[in-house]
Amino acid sequence: MKMINIEGNHDLSGTIKISGAKNSSVAILPASILASTDVTICNIPEITDTDALCEILEYLGADVRRASESVVITPSTIENKFIPEKYSKKLRASYYFMGALLGKFKHVEISLPGGCSIGARPINLHLKGFESLGAKITMEEEKYIVHAEELKGANIYLDIASVGATINIMLAAVLAKGKTIIDNAAKEPEIVNVATFLNNMGAKITGAGTSQIRIMGVEELKGCFHEIIPDRIEAGTYTIIGALVGNNLKIYNIIPEHIEALTSKLQEMGADIEIGSDYLIINKKEEYLPTNIKTLVYPGFPTDLQQPFSVLLSRCNGISTIEETIFENRFMHLPELKKMGMKITKEKTKATFFGKCNLKGNEVVATDLRAGAALIVAALIAEGTTTIKNVEHILRGYEGIIEKLKDVGAKIELKEI
Ligand code: EPZ
Repeated sequence: MKMINIEGNHDLSGTIKISGAKNSSVAILPASILASTDVTICNIPEITDTDALCEILEYLGADVRRASESVVITPSTIENKFIPEKYSKKLRASYYFMGALLGKFKHVEISLPGGCSIGARPINLHLKGFESLGAKITMEEEKYIVHAEELKGANIYLDIASVGATINIMLAAVLAKGKTIIDNAAKEPEIVNVATFLNNMGAKITGAGTSQIRIMGVEELKGCFHEIIPDRIEAGTYTIIGALVGNNLKIYNIIPEHIEALTSKLQEMGADIEIGSDYLIINKKEEYLPTNIKTLVYPGFPTDLQQPFSVLLSRCNGISTIEETIFENRFMHLPELKKMGMKITKEKTKATFFGKCNLKGNEVVATDLRAGAALIVAALIAEGTTTIKNVEHILRGYEGIIEKLKDVGAKIELKEI
């Protein structure tokens, strides 16, 4: 098991470069199998989630050549094989192979996906989309079998603007016959990045980034060169760290409008932040105005940032609240933050934070990816040393987080026990 030790209360100065977006990469890697020739993708973050997906690509027979932060994939050698749970359970995004293999071969057999325990996370909307396109779905001891004699375009309404369902339906529809319309589609920047990738391969997708996406099926998709957008959640996490311990901390390789819900909230709370074209510079403040957050689909406040953001509320002079509207179990970090001295109450999907309070180092456990990020933020401001266990969760989604923090002055060590 891996753990992290952090000695808190050190200012961080210098620059942090943001890596490619995890939530784009984990869709685009499976999507590459739709191409008939080589695909080159750059700015892929080196995290365990992308490692797991490259492993599945190789298991299926693709040739995968990884250099630092880029990958060349030869999909032409792929066979359509059952994906067992030893691969599918490693992460939630393994389910993108459903849309990609269905779109390419009209047949897919895959065990259930894995992923964080932040909620039930059903995939009923993904399956509804596949069925609308003409697929039949059966379940056999813990595996999905999805088969279509023919995939035909359809009008699909999503009851929830689901990121995963929107992407998975796009993957299944790009080679279908005719036109597909996805209504109430998710509008996250990663959706646009995936649609751009597919269009670079020859797909005909319009409307990505709006609530209606239109896909005109084509005969074939060819390999392309594609760049992953910067990771807005990584950028937001380091921005929150800067608001707490930054001393002229520069965070660059960002798309500022992708984290506007966070930066405008920080400005409202009194943050000292300068926003440039592809960077921001942030200085810590000893005190912030209290605030109320409600997580929403993009462009609202991202659910993936509410957990690290909650640590900042310890520095607000007054009562703040966070309401989580996307996932039903995304407060597992709160008991760990209380062990470090935060004063928090919670009922159902709303948490109340009583500031200001000083945090003390303690032994804590990461329960999911962004909960782990929240514990790193808390450890950086706590008095004394904090030990965080189960940090494998964190290494899934933050490329080089130990090195990036060390390079700007954090006293942080990764240990294997
Ligand atoms: C993606 O998860 C991200 N993961 C999540 O990031 C992110 O929090 C989430 O989108 C929301 O932005 C990846 O991209 C790999 P959803 P996804 O489908 O696609 C319900 C992180 O920390 N729902 O938009 O699973 C679902 O249960 C991760 O990087 C259904 O009910 O999210 C949830 O309550 C965590 N049926 C809500 O919709 C479905 O078929 C939104 O889920 C699909 C979803």
